[in-house]
Amino acid sequence: MNVSTLRGEADTPILDVAGLNVSFGTRAGDVRVVRDMSFRVARGDVFAVIGESGSGKSTMAQAVMGLLSGNAMTTGRITLAGQPILSLSPRARRRLCGERMALISQDALAALNPCTTVGFQIAETFMVHRGMSRRAAMRRAVELLAQTGIPSPEERVHHYPHEFSGGMRQRALIAIALALEPDLLIADEPTTALDATIKAQILQLLMRLRSELGMAVLIVTHDMGVGARMADRMLVMYAGRAVETGPVTDVFDVPAYLCAPCSRRCRVSIARARRCVRSPARRPRRRRSRTGARSIRAARWRCRNARRNCRSRSRSPMTA
Ligand SMILES: Nc1ncnc2c1ncn2[C@@H]1O[C@H](COP(=O)(O)OP(=O)(O)OP(=O)(O)O)[C@@H](O)[C@H]1O
Ligand SMILES: [Mg+2]
Repeated sequence: MNVSTLRGEADTPILDVAGLNVSFGTRAGDVRVVRDMSFRVARGDVFAVIGESGSGKSTMAQAVMGLLSGNAMTTGRITLAGQPILSLSPRARRRLCGERMALISQDALAALNPCTTVGFQIAETFMVHRGMSRRAAMRRAVELLAQTGIPSPEERVHHYPHEFSGGMRQRALIAIALALEPDLLIADEPTTALDATIKAQILQLLMRLRSELGMAVLIVTHDMGVGARMADRMLVMYAGRAVETGPVTDVFDVPAYLCAPCSRRCRVSIARARRCVRSPARRPRRRRSRTGARSIRAARWRCRNARRNCRSRSRSPMTA
């Protein structure tokens, strides 16, 4: 596979996911977590995947990155810059994905190695992928920490993850993700567990870096505000399915799917809309036998504003 050939294909979407299914083998049987998901991310676009906790957002992101655990079964088609990646050997896939896309994972502390300095974790990327010497790679690590707004980067580069604050760890993860200047950055809840000020700073940083580097961003979040503020296009996930997709304004202004009252209210107040869902603990159970339509109907008893038509409205999976 020739990476430079792929870089010439300016018109193909950077990411094309078609009919993606992910299930996990468990003692109780197979659990289908992602069902028939299809969407495309254009080059340079910001695409948000939003959905409540447990709807399968991180699983979908990990399936794209090839980071699922051993009990996962993935079917469908994932194309990165025109190259189908599910059929690649693990080695070829690692190489392509390492060069072309990067993930900022949901838990910054768990994603960083506690036994190695942050600087070395950034430098390692250059040493492995670019064959740089340790000294040169550490210099690049200092530059990246500075680019992501970490103060005193020459000093901080020698610190361990536990010596960083939550916001700084998130920046360190962003620095690692940006090291190889990927075409696609997948940011899985990049602002979870951060206070409002740091959250705003991280989002601003992502948007600044996105325009500086011209990369596409796939942002995964349960926060409609983050999706609305950052994205050009948006996909709503519910119980493993894509239930709505389109330009952000359309999703908020002309809600087409089950939670129409909630989405309509989003236009007035995104914060108030979140209260519509009664209890995240009463998430529909997913079984092998459960059909999509039944999963969707399960929404009805979870929302105070559900109407009769929430039950009857049903759609085939959508393609963004
Ligand atoms: N390795 C696994 N084995 C079995 N089930 C799993 C595994 N990984 C994830 N799941 C299940 O998949 C479902 C979706 O999890 P996922 O982490 O994708 O949700 P999410 O939408 O990212 O939620 P959150 O917003 O809380 O991060 C959960 O019910 C979870 O228990
Ligand atoms: Mg998640």
